[in-house]
Amino acid sequence: SDPDALQDFCVADLKVSNDTPINGFVCKPASAVTSDDFFFDGLSKQGDISNTLGATVTPANVLTFPGLNTLGLSMNRVDYAPGGLNPPHSHPHATELVLGVQGELLVGFVSTSNVFYSKVLKSGENFVIPRGLIHFQYNVGKGNASAITTFDSQLPGVVIAASTLFGSKPDIPDQVLAKAFQVDEKIVKAIKSKF
Ligand code: GLV
Ligand code: MN
Repeated sequence: SDPDALQDFCVADLKVSNDTPINGFVCKPASAVTSDDFFFDGLSKQGDISNTLGATVTPANVLTFPGLNTLGLSMNRVDYAPGGLNPPHSHPHATELVLGVQGELLVGFVSTSNVFYSKVLKSGENFVIPRGLIHFQYNVGKGNASAITTFDSQLPGVVIAASTLFGSKPDIPDQVLAKAFQVDEKIVKAIKSKF
């Protein structure tokens, strides 16, 4: 859903200071562009899945792959240990297409009418996540799992529900979260201590 570009390409020069980006990054001079600018091998290896959630996202977006600047798309590789979770989150700037590559993944999102839509994805199967909606993937298989996710934005943006609400800096007042989630403030403090 990024705007259309008015030139063939605009490889981002991420070193040029760009404090007020509007639609992407400054282009590196065309005379300095080579084939390497259109190549990225960062998704070739499994990410480190030995973390609390047992999952990791490796991005191929404009920040890691500057050749994507102004081209309106990006891709992630996501790896999951058994029981691994890519936790509930949303992308303000992109619709996401999930391709199961290995294992069995429970993939789901919740609509603005609060309906939960989900599937268990196997290798070669797709599930689409409409822009901005909260979604997750959970490895329900016995072994490791992996997925490739593609986006109609060079930088989809990510809002992770748990860390946004319980780990912001400065933090949201305990009373606000206690009221919103209808729990005691002690529970809010306990959750905050993990983020
Ligand atoms: C998966 O949801 C991803 O954002 O890559
Ligand atoms: Mn996502």
